[in-house]
Amino acid sequence: LDNGLALKPTMGWLHWERFMCNVDCDRDPDNCISERLYMQMADVMVKEGWKEAGYEYVCIDDCWPSHQRDAQGRLQADPKRFPGGIKKLADYIHSKGLKLGIYADIGKYTCAGYPGSLGYYETDALAFADWGVDLLKFDGCNMDRALVGEAYVNMSKALNTTGRSILYSCEWPLYEWPLRQPNYTAIRETCNHWRNFQDVYDSWSSIKSILDWTASHQDIIVPAAGPGGWNDPDMLVIGNFGLSHDQQESQMALWAIMAAPLLMSNDLRDICPRSKDLLQNRRIIDISQDSLGKQGYRTAKMNGYEVWEKPLSQNRLAIAVMNRQEIGGPRQFTIRAAPGWKICYPKCSIKQILPQYKDMGIQAPDSNIVVTINPSGTALLTLTPISSSSFERMH
Ligand code: DGJ
Repeated sequence: LDNGLALKPTMGWLHWERFMCNVDCDRDPDNCISERLYMQMADVMVKEGWKEAGYEYVCIDDCWPSHQRDAQGRLQADPKRFPGGIKKLADYIHSKGLKLGIYADIGKYTCAGYPGSLGYYETDALAFADWGVDLLKFDGCNMDRALVGEAYVNMSKALNTTGRSILYSCEWPLYEWPLRQPNYTAIRETCNHWRNFQDVYDSWSSIKSILDWTASHQDIIVPAAGPGGWNDPDMLVIGNFGLSHDQQESQMALWAIMAAPLLMSNDLRDICPRSKDLLQNRRIIDISQDSLGKQGYRTAKMNGYEVWEKPLSQNRLAIAVMNRQEIGGPRQFTIRAAPGWKICYPKCSIKQILPQYKDMGIQAPDSNIVVTINPSGTALLTLTPISSSSFERMH
């Protein structure tokens, strides 16, 4: 969507995977969907280096509104859980130098049964703009499949009419795929990012299914991605319960390679240092946020490995090698015939970023680069070409 937003993949935090529809603030005040949760997350994001690392949007998902619209037909936040209302919350988030995201649905009800926006697109867009909201995640439940595209386009127009810059996060293709192949050109013109596939869960099988879906549809979806519009493989679940550290590294590396929005769904108030360092790893974030804005793609699958490549600015290349074999120990992969290797004519500089940082020096096409990768882990590297003239200058 050409609205000046999401020129790089969106970074932030979104409540759904970790906190879901927990509305029981009496029994679970620290984890229920309430203004406190977003305020505390915002506080931590500023204090613990998240904002500094680039994470900017604090996003509300389903289950925030009251079950009734107000007398003017406007959505209202649940008064018990959001006593200050959304406008006050937005002011607070903005005072921290962060941005606020909110959630609504194209249909009569949200997926969790709260009021949907059907019949109220203008009203709701105006309310969000009025409250100072910076991002809208627009879900696609409870709507006739055939009308999904039209609905997403209508809300895009309504948001545009408000005059406020609101990043527009869609689930159009996810809800249209069961009916037909979505029109990705139209989706890109309408949305800043779009979900294609099922919700992420806190499990390795979920991460694998997302990667497999993405690779098997890459010819359709990768060309649609670029500054202003991105494929959204759903939230980062790093720092939760279901992934081993190697699997967390795989998610982080591959989400960067896919130029995916980096929206964490975890508890930043209580996260282990290793997961935090991984999520804040500048070298990985730089690959995600690279100014060329190209989504990477899977280039090879053999012998229990997958190779993914993402073209970067200045003719550089990021390569991720995943060890998909889930038996045995660490395996050694030799990068020799990888298609990206041609950028190493005559020489290139190679840096390994995962599993740990290592400057691999200047290499030629005939060098044997060996990386050791744990089961379900990923080696992430960058290749920087060195032109013959600068090579001569160096020697
Ligand atoms: C379905 C979406 O895909 C999820 O990300 C989440 O927003 C839930 N709906 C909320 O009900």
